[in-house]
Amino acid sequence: MPLPAHPDRLVLRRPDDWHLHLRDGPALAAVLPATAKTFGRAIVMPNLRPPVVTVGAAGAYRARILAALPPGARFEPLMTLYLTDHTAADEIARARASGFVVAAKVYPAGATTNSDSGVTSLDRAEPAIAAIEKHGLVLSLHGEVTDADVDIYDRERVFIDRSLARLVRDHPALRIVVEHITTREAAQFVEAAGANVAATITPQHLLWSRNAMLVGGVRPHLYCLPILKREAHRRALVAAATSGNPKFFLGTDSAPHARHAKEHACGCAGCYSAPLALELYAEAFEDAGALDRLEGFASLHGARFYGLAPHEERVTLVREPWTVPAEYAYGAETIVPLRAGETVRWRLAAG
Ligand code: NCD
Ligand code: ZN
Ligand code: ZN
Repeated sequence: MPLPAHPDRLVLRRPDDWHLHLRDGPALAAVLPATAKTFGRAIVMPNLRPPVVTVGAAGAYRARILAALPPGARFEPLMTLYLTDHTAADEIARARASGFVVAAKVYPAGATTNSDSGVTSLDRAEPAIAAIEKHGLVLSLHGEVTDADVDIYDRERVFIDRSLARLVRDHPALRIVVEHITTREAAQFVEAAGANVAATITPQHLLWSRNAMLVGGVRPHLYCLPILKREAHRRALVAAATSGNPKFFLGTDSAPHARHAKEHACGCAGCYSAPLALELYAEAFEDAGALDRLEGFASLHGARFYGLAPHEERVTLVREPWTVPAEYAYGAETIVPLRAGETVRWRLAAG
């Protein structure tokens, strides 16, 4: 039976989060339950201090995540390696053999939070990238240039023109995820590329343009990288996410930073969405008249791209508006989620 346009309940296979920051220590313990409540698996980003550059470090981080899970939680962290100019091909082979590392991440040096040790050029990382292609790992990309003369709003588009197009051409068998795409150009590039190229899309880039962040006052909790773009780009992303095209899938990029680090003269980049991420995606899909496409985006496409089986278990969203807390505890500090103090129209049923 086709889904009504505005159902009161929505049942979907348990979703996965294909781009997530969990941090470490008390911060990890504070944010992990929110993700584990909703998502069955997540690709855990490696931009810790120091970054996760070896399989040994990824294994130790994975063990800390498992140890921080609430009792009874069934959640599988899928680990990523942080690529540097010096990542050896052997490390990639070891990553593949580990079974728990599924991707390697390129942060252009200086592009975003904890990216100082990232790659200074894709050419320098070529031995590792060739090994990723050979061993069938996934290359995960923060797709922005860092050149001082490129405007922050153009950095993704310029990355596509200068770097991504060549990377895709030179590595026809390389599986690439362009993370957190924010522009029409990125959506078009991914759509036109082969089946080996896919993209994640965050809830904030589906719901808000830069006006939401800047009109009437600056809202630091909406500041993330790549930065929110103009409305035409938001619409292109909604069209891509709701198209049913399996190249586009859910990746929250939930990126926790303490309140004081966001509400600061030089605030950190990253939106905290874990406690309400699926609910926010449901709003975006409903507003686009595409709730029937949410399950593909949230629970099927990413698993297929990573070569994993979707979950058999189901989760239920109910139309039951609730007020998002103004803040959550975050170790000794607090953290402000997206939509803090505002209403969200969907709620995940306890399961
Ligand atoms: C992320 C973070 O805080 O780790 N921040 C962000 O604005 N997205 C890093 C990233 O994914 O680029
Ligand atoms: Zn990023
Ligand atoms: Zn991220």
